[in-house]
Amino acid sequence: MSKQSYSSPRGTKDILPSAQPYWQTLRSIAEKTLSGLGFDRIDIPHFENIEVFTRGIGEGTDIVQKEMFTLEKRGEKEDSITHALRPEGTAGVVRSYIQNGMSSLPQPVRLYYLGSMFRYERPQKGRFREFNQLGVEIFGDESARSDYLTIMSAWEILSKLGLKNLKVYANSIGCSTCRPKYLSKLRKFYKTKFDNICDDCKIRYEKNPLRLLDCKNEKCQTIADEAPSILDSLCKECRDHFQNTLEYLDYFDIKYDLDPKLVRGLDYYTKTVFEITDQSDKSRQNVIGGGGRYDNLVELLGGSETPAVGFSFGMDRIVSLMQEQKIKATKQRGVEVCILQLGEKAKEAAKKIYDGLSDNDVNVFFVPSNDGLRQQIKASIKLGARYAVIIGQREALKDEIILRDLEASSQEVFPVSGLVEEIKRRFEKCKCNSK
Ligand code: HAM
Repeated sequence: MSKQSYSSPRGTKDILPSAQPYWQTLRSIAEKTLSGLGFDRIDIPHFENIEVFTRGIGEGTDIVQKEMFTLEKRGEKEDSITHALRPEGTAGVVRSYIQNGMSSLPQPVRLYYLGSMFRYERPQKGRFREFNQLGVEIFGDESARSDYLTIMSAWEILSKLGLKNLKVYANSIGCSTCRPKYLSKLRKFYKTKFDNICDDCKIRYEKNPLRLLDCKNEKCQTIADEAPSILDSLCKECRDHFQNTLEYLDYFDIKYDLDPKLVRGLDYYTKTVFEITDQSDKSRQNVIGGGGRYDNLVELLGGSETPAVGFSFGMDRIVSLMQEQKIKATKQRGVEVCILQLGEKAKEAAKKIYDGLSDNDVNVFFVPSNDGLRQQIKASIKLGARYAVIIGQREALKDEIILRDLEASSQEVFPVSGLVEEIKRRFEKCKCNSK
């Protein structure tokens, strides 16, 4: 039989142990920051009834039209497809908010989530078919305070990570009162330019004119630069709401640029939309996070009228920025202590010592071994341990151990009873010295 080897599917990747400290740092700073700001974690399924996405994100969006991974049971016909892998988190979190009666909890409900999302895109740097998002959603507060809190929590995480060269772009895309008026103004403007726009934009003109503004075609961009600004067409409620959001950002010194062409690629947005971009990267993949308000989505998916706002980060893009900007990633504590036992009698004592250290939050490795001491010491150094606790027959009888510093190659005898304290004291001392 010929040997078969496999690669990870196109647009996916393995996150190897060497990259894990970056992911760990990002997750731990994000989760700490978000809990501190009153967000609770939620985990939702990786796939949902397809209508959660088609209705939620919008039939006409690229995500729903071209990028969804649909699921079919082997042997079933394609037209019986009922589920899809999640291309984003918001629609699923909204489904969960409704299904679990979260509207009866004290509002606002603030949730965060992280995990894989799936989009059938053309893979390139920073764009994958399986990627990770970290997102927040706030339900039940229509005030600009929650728009601000959303942007601020994103900014806070990025600042705590120490990332530089980032910028917030903000816009308001109005509501069902003012947007239709703006769209007819926009269509009027594009009618005179129709022959000069790309074929995709000709479809957008009919189906989703707001998206004419963020076409990446150079010629279309020049035309979009001259288009009427939505900010001049907002109704009083949307104008005041956006003004309040910006005042909060000013007050808390979060720098932003207004971008009246920022419209986002999902249909559910109302009022505030925003994106955070990496200024040093001019490619289309420089958007590391985005979000906005979506006051109609809960109702659209079957819930009661509930204002909501949120954002998501592309975690893969943040991790690659952390690596590019040489951000220090904190390594998880690995093996700290190895227990080396010689002879049968020492085995039982070694197990007790293992339990004592492990219960006291020391990372300890112990697997009974028949190897000689020299070999066991070598293996402990390979595991990266700082100390070895050595127990032979004599030590087991006297309730003692030999504590060996594997870095300094020195050792001392200690009574078993004081071992946990001694090891903790030594690690504390190491921490002080390295500060
Ligand atoms: P989104 O703009 O589609 O928004 O995605 C958010 C972020 O996910 C993007 O800014 C990007 O960093 C990352 N991302 C998207 N697609 C890919 C990909 N193919 N490969 C790598 N990274 C990617 C949303 O998903 C909304 N749910 C955000 C939101 C939450 N709005 C309100 N609440």
